[in-house]
Amino acid sequence: MTLGLFDDLPAAAQAPEWLEPGAVVLRGFASDLAAELLAAVGGVAAAAPFRHLVTPGGKRMSVAMTNCGPLGWISDRSGYRYGPVDPDTGARWPAMPALFRQLARDAAEAAGYPGFAPDACLVNRYEPGTQLSLHQDRDEGNYAHPIVSVSLGIPAVFLWGGAERADKARRVGLWHGDVVVWGGPARLRFHGVLPLAQAEHAATGARRINLTFRKAG
Ligand code: SIN
Ligand code: FE2
Repeated sequence: MTLGLFDDLPAAAQAPEWLEPGAVVLRGFASDLAAELLAAVGGVAAAAPFRHLVTPGGKRMSVAMTNCGPLGWISDRSGYRYGPVDPDTGARWPAMPALFRQLARDAAEAAGYPGFAPDACLVNRYEPGTQLSLHQDRDEGNYAHPIVSVSLGIPAVFLWGGAERADKARRVGLWHGDVVVWGGPARLRFHGVLPLAQAEHAATGARRINLTFRKAG
């Protein structure tokens, strides 16, 4: 028998998992939007196809990337930077879908950063075996704004490090719909993604899509 007291309440939001002051994992925060987000990623990639950027050191990145919004993150032999134009096509990056902007704003607010208005969305596409080595997000003009990072598709192990590259990094599983937000005292933490394990997800096949929202201009 059930008392029925909670029958018409929405599913409880999961408790935020704080990694440290300023940095939090919001489990399932984007789950309900996942199908729409992935459809919109398809639209972005139709205009600005995924590509493997080259690092300043000349290495091809294993993660495929594209962007939407006024500014896109790019890397080539001359360095890392943000720019308004897709270097592959010469056209402006596709517009950031309103749904993306709202999700980024809502997640930032839930993490204690109200009023977040991203102007850059980097879209990362991972396949099993691909990884992102430890790095800081430091190509933005201003570190006052947080980073909002949305995980879709197959799971990944996120590395959450410290202020120095050599600091011990903790391993945080990220699943379809999870959102990580970091800013304030945690804004310049080293982070990365371990090589993805073989997996399949109904929404993406053997892929993980990550949306990283930033205020870069
Ligand atoms: C990034 O650090 O740019 C992406 C992190 C992720 O894929 O979860
Ligand atoms: Fe990053």
